[in-house]
Amino acid sequence: MNHPEDIIHSAEKFAKQQLEFDPSGHDWWHIQRVRKLAVELAKAEHANIFVCELAALLHDVADEKLNVSKEAGLSKVLLWLTNHNVEHRITEEVMTIISTMSYNGGKNPPMETLEGKIVQDADRLDAIGAVGIARAFAYSGWKGLQIHHPGKSFENLDYRSNEKTAIYHFHEKLLRIKDLLNTDSAKKIAEQRHRFMESFLEQFHQEWEFNDYNL
Ligand code: ADP
Ligand code: NI
Repeated sequence: MNHPEDIIHSAEKFAKQQLEFDPSGHDWWHIQRVRKLAVELAKAEHANIFVCELAALLHDVADEKLNVSKEAGLSKVLLWLTNHNVEHRITEEVMTIISTMSYNGGKNPPMETLEGKIVQDADRLDAIGAVGIARAFAYSGWKGLQIHHPGKSFENLDYRSNEKTAIYHFHEKLLRIKDLLNTDSAKKIAEQRHRFMESFLEQFHQEWEFNDYNL
């Protein structure tokens, strides 16, 4: 196997090249934040740092939204790992993590390995808090979704439906994330980010509804 440091360095270049100009909230800086969070969580939870960092760097290269299909995205990553002589056992671990970590409307089964739990937590932490709010609106703009539609029900729509609003996304996913995290370290980081989203929504609705300013 190539030296782990060289593999990480090449994976960073690969992710940058693949995702540099992504407009959907999965750009290189998302990868960089998830990678840093994954390394911090791996240290705190005594997990394999190399596996967590490598999976974090590669996790969105295979995203179904950014490839012709989920399979095509996964094949691209597998080919990259093979071409970089990554040990078979590590290739398998990384492939399992990135093929099962997506939120997928909350329908995927729980992650089995500690490293999988960590990379999934790191990705989910980047979907909440101030950065999470920014990403939700960036994603909505990219998809052409509306900001908010009071009184409309979205309950029966598919997770990837274009009929939903950015504000609904907080209720279907972002406000639920803190209770879906796997590790105690991630739950600790999530607390303040969650409170920040709640106060954002409170102010949003106040501005939206309240129009008696008594000036
Ligand atoms: P994952 O990357 O785990 O598969 P998603 O694709 O669901 O997760 O989410 C990626 C980013 O896009 C997140 O920041 C998420 O909040 C945002 N996002 C996904 N769906 C929507 C939506 N319908 N409205 C607003 N933001 C969304
Ligand atoms: Ni991601």
